[in-house]
Amino acid sequence: MEPRGTKRGAGKTEVVEPRNKVSHPAPSLPTDPALYSGPFPFYRRPSQLGCFSLDAQRQYHGDARALRYYSPPPTNGQGPNFDLRDGYPNRYQPRDEEVRESLDHLLRWLLEHRGQLEGGPGWLAGAVVTWRGHLTKLLTTPYERQDGWQLAASRFQGTLYLSEVETLAARAQRLTRPPLLQELMYMGYKFEQYMCADKPGGSPDPSGEVNTNVAFCSVLRSRLGNHPLLFAGEVDCTDPQAPSPQPPTCYVELKTSKEMHSPGQWRSFYRHKLLKWWAQSFLPGVPNVVAGFRTPEGFVCSLKTFPTMQMFEHVRNDRDGWNPSVCMNFCAAFLSFAQNTVVQDDPRLVHLFSWEPGGPVTVSVHRDAPHAFLPTWYVEAMTQDLPSPPKTPSPTD
Ligand code: A3P
Ligand code: MG
Repeated sequence: MEPRGTKRGAGKTEVVEPRNKVSHPAPSLPTDPALYSGPFPFYRRPSQLGCFSLDAQRQYHGDARALRYYSPPPTNGQGPNFDLRDGYPNRYQPRDEEVRESLDHLLRWLLEHRGQLEGGPGWLAGAVVTWRGHLTKLLTTPYERQDGWQLAASRFQGTLYLSEVETLAARAQRLTRPPLLQELMYMGYKFEQYMCADKPGGSPDPSGEVNTNVAFCSVLRSRLGNHPLLFAGEVDCTDPQAPSPQPPTCYVELKTSKEMHSPGQWRSFYRHKLLKWWAQSFLPGVPNVVAGFRTPEGFVCSLKTFPTMQMFEHVRNDRDGWNPSVCMNFCAAFLSFAQNTVVQDDPRLVHLFSWEPGGPVTVSVHRDAPHAFLPTWYVEAMTQDLPSPPKTPSPTD
């Protein structure tokens, strides 16, 4: 990980103005769902290339030490009774959200594995590298009515890197997050603690701390249309009893949601929450989302498994539902738009893609701080030749 406070390139922000504003109107990309309702595009079955872990101090380790094991409560006729507020705030160690990590952890993994990437020598040069969470936001954009986003893009050695920039509105919301919302965030992580063990076949230990610095991340390869993808995403746990033991099909995503009591509440859940759950898990090929439904007092008394590939069925016949084709076609269109916009290969040049609900995606161009996000240690190491493979001993050696 890049040490905190390391400079990412000196210099003041420079907005590069187009030479001729009249003959070159700024390109933009519309986001209306109706424009993207074609057939479902090609999406390669995601395969895991590797993984990494972040420890309680948010330090990087190139292994699976932070992976946890799915360990649901015994089904003995009674439902669970998880108190999600237990331990708050005394046994809560939240991650410092002021630290902007950008793609740093993923870049470290990539640097350490660039010599062993499958797909041939030129594969990385044609790929998009990003976080799964950024792709999730792209997938849900045609249906999003509340939160906008900004994605910074830089091309380096052919590869297009995409890294999210916190919008001013998101920052303001984060800094004024009401105490109830902070506790609700804790409760999502507490649910993970009730459902996961540290060892396969072990039991959860809800007496410990909830430390959100700790993360296990899977690094995956896929392709959307003609866009090769390399992305990393946090994985909640692996199921030691999954029918197929290899990642990502053994992974399980855990979620909490309010208990529902009326068909109207379920409909709204299918329309809004299930879209986000689907997008997040479909991208890395995680087959199941296990939901804990909480009472107003914060107790999870029932669990339900939602297979990712069956989520769309809940809205297929709903005029106000969502459509996976729209999500994936929009994402493919955005990737083409970004590939065609970011032409110059320069790690210090940033095209900032901005979107607010109701409008199109727009672009502005920047150089160096504060938007440049590829760290010097990465650019310099990637500019060196690949480390040569270990020498095979010759008979005279
Ligand atoms: P829930 O999943 O129960 O909402 P994830 O589910 O993606 O693994 O994230 C785990 C928990 O992190 C969430 O629990 C929620 O508590 C918190 N979280 C994740 N994304 C968040 C966001 N954008 N805003 C607030 N809390 C978030
Ligand atoms: Mg989760």
